[in-house]
Amino acid sequence: MTTTFSDETRARARAIIARYPADRSRSALLPLLHLVQSEEGYVSPAGVEFCAEVLGLNKAQVGAVATFYTMYKRRPTGDYLVSVCTNTMCNVLGGQEVYDTLAEHLGVGHDETTADGKITLEHAECLAACDYGPVMTVNYDFFDGVDPQSALGVVDELRAGGRPMPTRGARLCTLKEMSVQLAGFADEREGAVADGGPGEPTLRGLRLAEQHGISVPGFDPNTPIRSKAEADKAAAEAKAKAEATKSAPAPAGNAGTGAPARPEQATGSTAPDVKAPDDKSPETRAAETRQPDASTAVPDAPGTKVPADTTPPSPRDAQEAQAAGAAANPPAGDGKPAGDEAGAQRRNLSEAEAGSGATGAGSAVASETGVQK
Ligand code: FES
Repeated sequence: MTTTFSDETRARARAIIARYPADRSRSALLPLLHLVQSEEGYVSPAGVEFCAEVLGLNKAQVGAVATFYTMYKRRPTGDYLVSVCTNTMCNVLGGQEVYDTLAEHLGVGHDETTADGKITLEHAECLAACDYGPVMTVNYDFFDGVDPQSALGVVDELRAGGRPMPTRGARLCTLKEMSVQLAGFADEREGAVADGGPGEPTLRGLRLAEQHGISVPGFDPNTPIRSKAEADKAAAEAKAKAEATKSAPAPAGNAGTGAPARPEQATGSTAPDVKAPDDKSPETRAAETRQPDASTAVPDAPGTKVPADTTPPSPRDAQEAQAAGAAANPPAGDGKPAGDEAGAQRRNLSEAEAGSGATGAGSAVASETGVQK
């Protein structure tokens, strides 16, 4: 391997992969890409290779994902990624002016980084905070209702080594530090997640629920979240219990009648004995979904009957179906009489019938009338 990732990153990679079922490990790719970005500041070719290797994918598969999402940077990025929303709502509120001012002040354009490596500027499409527009984010933390002057103040403070407070959430961190969080690991820095509060509009739903005494039925905020070891232990116990029930001797039969016990009497369940639908490999399920045929039932559709008759419909069947559809669905208000279309379909039918008995004559009629067969 040519990658030089730290032991800590490798340990974290193993922890990420362990979050997913053994045959679904490729689902770990998104957090793994954040993880390699947390070490290098972007997803380098070495990062792509690292992800491919630990997940058993090829580099093209990893590259396809890394280039699809804008949060994965493919070239060295500054400590602070400043994203200015220039989408419709923010734009009419002054977002473009904010962007232009920053671009001129920093001397960089879209997706470019200042010479000191501190700031990468990008314009962003809707950042999902339109009601606070114009907005900009720094490493995905929000600055609401910015104007050119306040935006300049933020970037100048960042270049001077400060870490300003965003409008909502904790004090700003670097892109590498943010990538650790996005990979799903707690940021251990003091105040990393708790020294700023959420915005009041964010809490509006909670306030209303408290005011009206609304709560989630059965929700206990003190319910402990199980560790993986505890969850594994509970699953093993449940499995052992199920196997013990299965191997227990079945009742001899219906007392007094001599009739054998029905399966549901033996298990105590009245549920039909349906095979679990999710016992196939993902590859098999994907292949069957793409190309179901008479020998491979459509997954997840118990009872679905795939037609065994693969004879293609005759031209006459198709013409009849089309004619019936046209007659049943007259054009809506386009000024064209519906009868004309149905009549044309009937003519087509007669020509198709004539053509099936005398191909040459049918072809002549079709070519005269311009009808394609
Ligand atoms: S348009 Fe800017 S956040 Fe939606």
